[in-house]
Amino acid sequence: MAKKKVIKRSWAEPFKIKVVEPIKMTTREYREKAAKKAGYNTFLLKSEDVYIDLLTDSGTNAMSDYQWAGMMIGDEAYAGSKNFYYLWDNVKKYYGMPYMVPTHQGRAAEHILSQILIKSGDYIPGNMYFTTTRLHQELAGGTFVDVIIDEAHQAQKEHPFKGNIDLQKLDDLIKKVGAKKIPYVSMAGPVNMAGGQPFSMANLKEVRKLTKKHGIKLYFDATRACENAYFIKVREKGYANKSIAQILKEMCSYFDGLWVSAKKDLMVNIGGFLATRSKKVFEAARNMVVVYEGLHTYGGLAGRDMEAMARGIEEMVDFDNIRARIGQVEYAGKRLAEFGVPFVKPVGGHAIFLDAKRFLPHIPQEEFPAQTLAAEIYIDSGVRGMERGIVSAGRDPKTGKNRHPKLELVRLTFPRRVYTQAHIDVMVESVASVYQDRKKIKGLKMIYEPKYLRFFQARFDRL
Ligand code: F0G
Repeated sequence: MAKKKVIKRSWAEPFKIKVVEPIKMTTREYREKAAKKAGYNTFLLKSEDVYIDLLTDSGTNAMSDYQWAGMMIGDEAYAGSKNFYYLWDNVKKYYGMPYMVPTHQGRAAEHILSQILIKSGDYIPGNMYFTTTRLHQELAGGTFVDVIIDEAHQAQKEHPFKGNIDLQKLDDLIKKVGAKKIPYVSMAGPVNMAGGQPFSMANLKEVRKLTKKHGIKLYFDATRACENAYFIKVREKGYANKSIAQILKEMCSYFDGLWVSAKKDLMVNIGGFLATRSKKVFEAARNMVVVYEGLHTYGGLAGRDMEAMARGIEEMVDFDNIRARIGQVEYAGKRLAEFGVPFVKPVGGHAIFLDAKRFLPHIPQEEFPAQTLAAEIYIDSGVRGMERGIVSAGRDPKTGKNRHPKLELVRLTFPRRVYTQAHIDVMVESVASVYQDRKKIKGLKMIYEPKYLRFFQARFDRL
């Protein structure tokens, strides 16, 4: 009798498509002109000139019918909207934080928290910088100090938890500047700039122990916390049988507070919040939110937005949903590897990060290899990614000199529930084609540089 063939069983997305949005296909000649007009900066392209938009997973998600239905019951009262109370209830229930103020997006929460906790001359250790997070810490008079493990800066190094904090580095900083100069440790998970790399629960517990010993607060950039929870579930011993909701709650239990850009995990198009256990921080945040955002019961959002966020929290902890999301990124990584394309390993939760230093080794960092690569991929196929290298790293505020990050990357970010596997195949084949012809590619020079967060608006020309 013939041996029975083992059939591999695939998973698929736990949803189907109800509404579609047409996208434009353009010619190479058209995109060549569009790229030039945009100063070879993918942030300056018109979105209608983009075929597959992998610029960011921020606010680019497809909401569910449950979320859209919630939009219809938006309570647009100026004060005390019922959607605000529902959101607050869900923040208590899923993140375990008693206090919350809504903000129009994540950086607004970063602004408020930084202004409340940081004094001039303070130091804020964190597991690698994020652009807006560090800027708000600096604007409040603080200095960010990177205390992530060394492996996070090595694109090709495999490590299950590259987002971990190096306890020795943190301890050294505490000894050097003193605990009084460290208002809080800022811990993100997964770490965006490292390639979407998670921290482990074991590492978090150690960080909590050390900070507690010195009376230092611990705050969580929980923007993509469910992706971190997923990695803990599939990679860390003892968590395989726990639900995403249980792991999220345990993670949050070690923090004094957290902030969220709801434009990611919560699968909405706009929104954010700051949550804390401290009544004092909460009172201060409520005072600030009315100055910069809006009343403390809407924080720059419409009632309908808060309803969609509250419902998004319920959907984000669904295991099948998060597996399908990260599974799509893993699928792209597997296919890119078949073509020998260099990218950050292991693949992260929200994106593939192409390793531009290895992709274009003939282009020095001063000629912006990642900026160049993002432009070339767009010109090849209309796929839009973004630079995460020397342009994003910006200048040191004290010396005015360019920072030279070890990682020079192009991020291809996956919006949630938006693109099919066929879109991903088109992207992979385009990147592989650009890789084949890489030797012909020349670098860029910067011709316009804005003062803050220059990667958004800088302009370039071909060398
Ligand atoms: N923290 C992290 C880890 C982020 O990725 C972002 C935004 C923010 C905070 C700020 O939130 O945009 O709502 O103000 N990241 C986007 C991105 C912009 O493309 O990665 P925001």
